[in-house]
Parts: sequence; C-alpha cells; structure tokens
Amino acid sequence: MNNNNRYDLTGKVAIITGASKGIGEAIAYRMGKAGAKIIISSRKQDAVDIVAQNFKAEGIDATAIACHVGDMAQNDNLVQKTIEIYGRVDILVNNAVTNPIFGATLQADLGAFDKIMDVNVKAPFYLSKLVQPYMVKNGGGNIINISSVAGLTPDMGLGLYSVSKASLNMLTKVLAKEWGSVNIRVNSICPGVIKTKLSEAITSNEHIAKELINKQALKHFGEPDDIAGLAMLLASDAGSYITGAILTADGGLTI
Ligand SMILES: NC(=O)c1ccc[n+]([C@@H]2O[C@H](COP(=O)([O-])OP(=O)(O)OC[C@H]3O[C@@H](n4cnc5c(N)ncnc54)[C@H](OP(=O)(O)O)[C@@H]3O)[C@@H](O)[C@H]2O)c1
Repeated sequence: MNNNNRYDLTGKVAIITGASKGIGEAIAYRMGKAGAKIIISSRKQDAVDIVAQNFKAEGIDATAIACHVGDMAQNDNLVQKTIEIYGRVDILVNNAVTNPIFGATLQADLGAFDKIMDVNVKAPFYLSKLVQPYMVKNGGGNIINISSVAGLTPDMGLGLYSVSKASLNMLTKVLAKEWGSVNIRVNSICPGVIKTKLSEAITSNEHIAKELINKQALKHFGEPDDIAGLAMLLASDAGSYITGAILTADGGLTI
C-alpha cells in the first residue's frame, strides 16, 4: 500500500462551479495546489479570468470558462470545452447557488421557485449526467455537492433554499447508490455559516451573528478554506471509502 500523500490530485481534472469567489474559489485553489487541473467557472467571464490568472501565477494549471448553471446549454458547453481542453474530467464540484428571496415562503412565486431549483438542483443533476460517461471511461470519478445545514433543518427566511438543499442531498444519495458500481463517489458537504458574500447579510448583522455564534460549539464563523479541507478529503484517495455521505462542517451549529 502506498501511503504517500493520499490527498494528491496530480493528473486529475476538476470542474468547480461558482468558483469566482467564496467557498468555490477556496476549493478550486486547494485542488489546484494538490496538482489537479482546474476549470474555474461562474456566470461572469471577467471574474473567472481574474481567478484563473491568480492561480496560474501560483503554478496552478487553471482555465476559466463562464457558465450560468441555470442555463442547460451553458452546462453542455462547460463540459464540452473541458473535454476539448483537458480530454477528461475526474472531479465535479456543484457549488454555484442562487437564493433570490429571503422571507416567508408564502411570498415566493413560481418564478423564484423555478430559479432556485434550476440553479441549486437541476444544474447539479444535469452536470452530473454530463460528466458521468467521461468518469466511467476513466474508471471512476468524484462528485461533491455543496449543500447546506439549511438542507437538514428548515432555516427561517430561507424556505425554498432549504427545500433545494434537501433535494440536493437526496440527489447525492441517489447518484451515490446508482453509480457506486462504476466507482463514482458522490457526497454532500453542508456548511454552517461561512464568511462569504452569500452570508454577508447574516455575518454583518450584529444581533443575528451573536445569536448564531451562541448556538455554535466553536465560537466563530467559518472561512471558505474551512470547507476546502473537507472537499479535498472527499475528492482524493484519502476519502476512498466515503460515498453517499451528507457531511456537516458547521462549527457545531447543528449539534
Ligand atoms: N456562505 C455560507 O455561509 C454558506 C452556508 C451554507 C452553504 N453554503 C453553500 O456554499 C456554496 C458557495 O456559497 P458561497 O457562500 O461561497 O457564495 P458566494 O461567495 O456568494 O459565491 C457564489 C459563487 O457562485 C457563482 N454563481 C452565482 N450564481 C451562479 C449561477 N447561476 N451560475 C454559475 N455560478 C453562479 C458566483 O459568481 P458569479 O456572480 O460570477 O456568477 C460565485 O462564484 C453554495 O452552494 C451555498 O449554498 C454557503
């Protein structure tokens, strides 16, 4: 048995959606530093170009491809371009998210419902379908869905977001069960409160922030890099027997 660096990703190709900032960027960086070739993707070409340039300056093989994951034709293009450039795909991180409403679910209309489900659930399903044959061809692969603790218990004000993340967790379990026989591992990470643009409304509100931190075992919010470590475990040989898992990284918020 070779026990040397089981986190090494040399030779692997990883697509990370929503990688222009926050958790996606942190995961992309760590995977790139571990030797993977990285596809940096988000809606805005200029934003992903900057991240790819910064990564390249640090010796990471990175390519920027803009993709609005709510548009299935753009998802087709993302995977097709990845294959054209690198010839394979080994890791898919479904990280991009939308949450257009904050408030009572009664106020949400069908347009908001569709938007949330398209980006948070349909895109991970569709992208997983697109990469699956290439992973099978390489003898296996790895899919990581970035979910949320809101997918485990309903979050007040984030009703449909919670529904979408619970659905994503079930997608994880379903695909893990169906694709285990072709050596594709599928797992969910459920972050707690991580300091990013998405959580700014919470972390910058003194009252809400204090209340949440009081509930946590660890008395501080997380950083994007706190999630990257878990993603590295799941994507690499170090996590070789983990599939279908719904793992929290929440500073003990849900204990
Ligand atoms: N931060 C937290 O406290 C927290 C807690 C639980 C779960 N999470 C989960 O962690 C993941 C990352 O969140 P984050 O906090 O890192 O968010 P963030 O800092 O706001 O970053 C979101 C990323 O997604 C991209 N994006 C947004 N809409 C997109 C779309 N339709 N298609 C493609 N890319 C899109 C954004 O770039 P562009 O604007 O360029 O598209 C950006 O790169 C999400 O799945 C979120 O649900 C976060």
